[in-house]
Amino acid sequence: MIHWTPPVFLSEDGREAATSPVIELHEEMERQMNKAELRERIRDYKWFHSIDFGDGIVTTGYWSPEMMKEDAETLFRPIKISGANVIDIGAWDGFYSFEAKRRGAASVLATDHFVWSGDPQFHGRETFELARDALGVDVEALDIDVPDLSPERVGTFDVVLFLGVFYHLFDPIDGLRRAASLAREVLVVVTHIDLAEIERPAMVFYPGNELAGDPTNWWGPNVPLMRALLKQFGFARVDYTSKPRPIFHAWRSDALRP
Ligand SMILES: C[S@@+](CC[C@H](N)C(=O)[O-])C[C@H]1O[C@@H](n2cnc3c(N)ncnc32)[C@H](O)[C@@H]1O
Repeated sequence: MIHWTPPVFLSEDGREAATSPVIELHEEMERQMNKAELRERIRDYKWFHSIDFGDGIVTTGYWSPEMMKEDAETLFRPIKISGANVIDIGAWDGFYSFEAKRRGAASVLATDHFVWSGDPQFHGRETFELARDALGVDVEALDIDVPDLSPERVGTFDVVLFLGVFYHLFDPIDGLRRAASLAREVLVVVTHIDLAEIERPAMVFYPGNELAGDPTNWWGPNVPLMRALLKQFGFARVDYTSKPRPIFHAWRSDALRP
């Protein structure tokens, strides 16, 4: 019988090393090659989110990486996210889904349809998939449109993210009602806001491409309307933060408040 003894590699100071310097060199070369490939691949796409992959590799999104970090901090800081189940409705490139997971969420479901459905001006789900693979995060994805969301279709979640979607919907109240129906504890809503001068709950309609030249922007609610709707959908407490984006935290109870 032949007995094989694994080789012992010594580091420079003569102590036993865990791996061979040759293996380490190969691994480093592979890492560098992967980084170069990732740099190349992210250049193939237009990104909505600025996603930081480390080693100076960051996608160029609509907002700066600094603004997105500040936004994520404002959005997630008030929530005990560790161990929570999260759905991110309108996830697009996935920044907020990945951030929820990074902050300790037990599970995250990213959903979208409008930009994931293959319209040539977007790129389907490819950026989401690329970012998820490169970050190596465990986030599920489901192509489903807002009007199809219900507890029967997707289940319920501790935390529901409904970020930047409300004002894109022709029927935003139905969309908000659906998002609320999925939330066991917290619904986080980010929306464009208008009519600050009106104290009563109100919403303005933008025909055509009146708002920012984008024909998918339909509505501008004011803060009293968002508060009133969220209360109407059964949330006991609604907190509003105006910067960096208008954010509403709607709470069913104090269970996930720090
Ligand atoms: C401004 S982006 C927000 C993306 C992400 N949630 C964020 O906050 O950065 C709008 C999102 O709403 C989704 N959406 C859902 N229904 C839509 C509709 N009818 N028109 C336009 N966008 C819609 C888009 O696919 C897109 O992911």
